[in-house]
Amino acid sequence: MQTIKEQFAADLAAAKTAEAVEQVRIKYLGKKGSITTLAKNTDFRSLSAEEKRSFGSRLNELKNYAEEALAAAKETAANAAPAKKSTGLDLTLPGTGRTLGSLHPISLIQMELESIFQGMGFTVVPSPECELEFYNFDAVNIPSDHPAREMQDTYWLKNQMLMRTHTSANQVRTMQRLGVPLRAIFPGRCFRNEAVDPSHENTFYQCEGLVVDKNISVANLIAVMKTLLSEIFHRDVTVRLRPGFFPFVEPGFELDLRCLLCEGEGCSTCHGTGWIELIPCGLIHPKVLECAGVDPTVYSGFAFGAGLTRLAMMKFGIPDIRLLNAGDVRFNEQFPTYV
Ligand code: DAH
Repeated sequence: MQTIKEQFAADLAAAKTAEAVEQVRIKYLGKKGSITTLAKNTDFRSLSAEEKRSFGSRLNELKNYAEEALAAAKETAANAAPAKKSTGLDLTLPGTGRTLGSLHPISLIQMELESIFQGMGFTVVPSPECELEFYNFDAVNIPSDHPAREMQDTYWLKNQMLMRTHTSANQVRTMQRLGVPLRAIFPGRCFRNEAVDPSHENTFYQCEGLVVDKNISVANLIAVMKTLLSEIFHRDVTVRLRPGFFPFVEPGFELDLRCLLCEGEGCSTCHGTGWIELIPCGLIHPKVLECAGVDPTVYSGFAFGAGLTRLAMMKFGIPDIRLLNAGDVRFNEQFPTYV
């Protein structure tokens, strides 16, 4: 019995799982277990009454001891089980944060302009970056000897098409597609073969606008431009019109904004003039209306070509135009995620 007891204790100590403990129980207390058979195999008839009693009580002791030890071992194994069945999930590790990207300053200003113009009843029209020579030049009254057509300015494509040099290229197509009266803007990317420096890029954004209706005058143009600028800069602005020449408007203007930084005193942003040349515009030239099949004796309109890139630089205080296309995340990350 002593040998069995020692063997049992050693086996149980080695059993770490519930199944292993059960195996130990079967080995000792099962039907053919060594403690069970110990009782069966003993020839009680050959023993004296005294021996019978002593054997019986020692056997009971051994059984009780084994049962209790097994119960305790079973419980220990059960408690240890969850740790063994680990899923690999460690809730004490630091989290992996999710970051949202941010919107490009050009996107921000474009979205803002679109919503301001939509508020004034304008439609936002998509427009192609790759254009026909006709729409980019001829249709907007730029004759074939105009300097804008010279090779150094325009990126020509192999198929006779070109990368549009301005969003005005979409004026006539828009009037043809939508008919008149109309109010539309078409923001987008333009391309010119320019030497790149802090204020010149070969790829930049404009937002063209077009209003055609009966009795449209310069007063309507000024009202729309003032509304636009005061909404963008969240304050009242002062503007002025200077004559400017563009073949597709008559009269043509340069709309200047009184410098928001120095209030007209003169600073480095406005090159000491107190004014910032911001939006070229004018009343649509009759030839352009005619080209789109609109009768200039019945309809008139105004057009403008706001420099989106310029506006973004002013609004966000971006000192170098090259930052916009450089793709440097440290620059891009400084702008908000949403409007
Ligand atoms: N397309 C001209 C440019 O890129 C800008 C412009 C001037 C657009 C006058 C207009 C306008 O619509 O009326 O230089």
